[in-house]
Amino acid sequence: MRTDIGQIVNLADYRPTDFVLERVDLTFELDPTNTKVEARLIFHRREGVDPSAPLVLDGDELNLSGLLFDQNEVPASQYDVTPESLTIRDLPAETPFEITVTTYINPEANTQLMGLYRTNGVYCTQCEAEGFRRITYFPDRPDVLAPYTITIIGDKAANPVMLSNGNFLGGAGYDEGRAFAAWFDPHPKPSYLFALVAGDLGVVEDTFETMSGNEVALKIYVEHGKEARAAYAMDALKRSMKWDEERFGREYDLNIFQIVAVSDFNMGAMENKGLNVFNDKYVLADPETATDQDYANIEAIIAHEYFHNWTGNRITCRDWFQLCLKEGLTVFRDHEFSADMRSRAVKRIAEVRHLKSEQFPEDAGPLAHPVRPTKYREINNFYTTTVYQKGSEVTRMISTLLGQDGFKSGMDLYFERHDGQAVTVEDYVKCFEDSAGRDLKQFSLWYSQAGTPLVTASSEYDQASGTFTLSLEQMVPATPGQPDKLPMHIPLSFSLISDNGAAATPSSVTGGEVTGEVLHLTERNQIFVFKGISSRPVLSLNRGFSAPINLQFNQSAADLAHIARHDTDLFARWQALTDLSIPNLTQAARDARDGKEITCDPALIAAILEAAGDDTLEPAFRSQVLTLPSEADIGRELGGNNDPDAIRTGRQAIISAIATAGAQTFARLFDDMQTDGAYSPDAENAGKRALRSSALAYLTYAEATPARAAGAFAAADNMTDQMSALTLLAHHFPDAPETAKALDTFLTRFDGNALVIDKWFSVQATIPGAGALDRVKALMENPRFIAGNPNRVRSLIGTFAFGNPTGFNRRDGEGYKFLAERILEIDPKNPQLAARILTSMRSWRSLEPQRADAARDALMTIERTPTLSTDVRDIVERMLK
Ligand code: PHE
Ligand code: ZN
Repeated sequence: MRTDIGQIVNLADYRPTDFVLERVDLTFELDPTNTKVEARLIFHRREGVDPSAPLVLDGDELNLSGLLFDQNEVPASQYDVTPESLTIRDLPAETPFEITVTTYINPEANTQLMGLYRTNGVYCTQCEAEGFRRITYFPDRPDVLAPYTITIIGDKAANPVMLSNGNFLGGAGYDEGRAFAAWFDPHPKPSYLFALVAGDLGVVEDTFETMSGNEVALKIYVEHGKEARAAYAMDALKRSMKWDEERFGREYDLNIFQIVAVSDFNMGAMENKGLNVFNDKYVLADPETATDQDYANIEAIIAHEYFHNWTGNRITCRDWFQLCLKEGLTVFRDHEFSADMRSRAVKRIAEVRHLKSEQFPEDAGPLAHPVRPTKYREINNFYTTTVYQKGSEVTRMISTLLGQDGFKSGMDLYFERHDGQAVTVEDYVKCFEDSAGRDLKQFSLWYSQAGTPLVTASSEYDQASGTFTLSLEQMVPATPGQPDKLPMHIPLSFSLISDNGAAATPSSVTGGEVTGEVLHLTERNQIFVFKGISSRPVLSLNRGFSAPINLQFNQSAADLAHIARHDTDLFARWQALTDLSIPNLTQAARDARDGKEITCDPALIAAILEAAGDDTLEPAFRSQVLTLPSEADIGRELGGNNDPDAIRTGRQAIISAIATAGAQTFARLFDDMQTDGAYSPDAENAGKRALRSSALAYLTYAEATPARAAGAFAAADNMTDQMSALTLLAHHFPDAPETAKALDTFLTRFDGNALVIDKWFSVQATIPGAGALDRVKALMENPRFIAGNPNRVRSLIGTFAFGNPTGFNRRDGEGYKFLAERILEIDPKNPQLAARILTSMRSWRSLEPQRADAARDALMTIERTPTLSTDVRDIVERMLK
């Protein structure tokens, strides 16, 4: 762990390495506490580089134990070494040479889970972004690409499985009790895509025939006994491989593709070439233990990592500033995949909910940064929702601007032009410019300007001339380091909906570029005039969330209800209902704060119940309609001086009003939305379960007793139904005997199943109210709480801080104090995990003064700690700035 303050890295300082790496040959002699790593690296000096320039290699907590030049020992006078770097002088000017570096590392002691570590007795690596330098001294940066040969030697009994990237070369007994395995990856790759796994694991096998007829062996490794739970992941993998061929023409390029599921992992999963390593949460599923959401996540993440093979691995990033080049693009690809596998509209609603609840607050707070940042202190802190989700939205906008075919042509050019290279965002955008013949200079501001643009719209209709006028204004808010912004190119999908619900087609539109159903907002102020509109239309704007903006458009409740009833874009219908609910929810929060009576607009109730009861609409969509904006969403809409208790009280009152008015509808839905036959995780059945559980939630509000939820819990024959009933019980009746009994039944039934026990912790961590903190503290004392396991820590501490607004934001500040203590405990062991959980406080400035002061105190306690990791120091200092 680096506890220095951390140097700032600037995009502007990029320059290529002095030496070109030609080949990498690694030999690992595995030992739990003392693994020997021998790295043979062939380099040559890049043309034109100063012949006296030394070779500088990166390290992190390393000990050098041997150094050879062309197999001869390098004299001490020729090199300098520290745990962080190895500098070798007097190297040849022209000829290639071989450097052999020997290091010994301790996987067992590696608690930060970067580099080579142990998880449940299995050796495993994580190298992105800068973990490889914890294995050996190396030019550890993404623009250094080489083919790798890997030899693994280890105890035969303990390591029947020994894996690395690429194709299997061979393996056998090595000597008494030891075995070896050799792998070769012919595709030049950067070190962050290196992986090694060794241990005793079970495997599920299948095959895939690629579009040109190559047979690929597919293997998913899991702990023994869990093989059956990998079936869905395998199915998702095969569908991903097929989809990438059909949609993007991308074929897999090795004769084997492997996935390993591990229980200790900092992130979701990692796209190492030919050997993806996964948090087991995103591999293992069966109906008894996984929810519909778990299945959907597995499908999406299996696809995401697989898709990286082309967008990330074959074409990689020149430097870490370009992270969105692989992440934003690959998220876009996995979104499109899921949309094709499931309901496109419902998928889009879920994406936008996620974007607004995660990315918008980041973009509006102290951690805001551009999709392509220009400086960082700790790269681990830039695996953010801005780089991933907003990055995906930027690619989605390119697709909207160019149309699906135009986008495809640009992607084809990208693959053709840059295969095998480490490139930049500019290279990527240039492919679309060149293939479409369109200038994307202004559009590229989406990569460099942080902050969510605010678009203000107003409209006017003139009956006499049949003219509809739309005035738009855009403003990009100031963000850290970026006080002034230029106007952006914002593609706004629109529709003019007539009285009868049909779309009106204008005879002409002036005021700016319009392509198909997209308005191009490019100026600060712009007025679009639509002619030939015979009656007053209702404008549906930013349909499908074509641009990731905040839209301020004061449409009447009647207009919003009209969109909700008639738009042909289901997403726009959902958006209209959300827009209708927001003023009710914010007003309710204000009234709750002021001790006033809370009322709900009957138009909102009517519109929601109409959509919910409409059997022509798919159940999953109706369930989305019934899921009102969250307490955090309402806080964002309020924008400041927030009191989470008042927000919750107000929101509860609105839900109760809908529940009371719609009791009959909900009772009918609860009975109707039964799935028949054996559980199936497909979208249609999942949609029915979602709608039934929404109905159950409203009925529980209306009836105000735990009976129905307790009944549903007892009757559930799958984890989805069981969790939704358990959550209702716990959140609404935390002290009821029914709840205690259900939690207990659940625990007894699933004790020992880590992923389900995570859910048991999470459901209790999110019980609202001031009592939450004591509950969380008590749960930390539970022997099942494992402080070294990231999933467990996230399920209790992370879920409490991110997902329990009233419990965490206690007025007395005890929640913040608690979090600060936990951060300081976690940081020395696993800085990445600590830094990530700390970002839960990123919106502290929008709290009312008493809470905000307490939050600042807690942050300052962290900041004053001298031994902080660079990860936590970077986050805490930016949050306090
Ligand atoms: N590159 C991984 C992904 O998004 C995420 C990751 C980053 C995993 C860093 C581990 C460490 O697919
Ligand atoms: Zn990714």
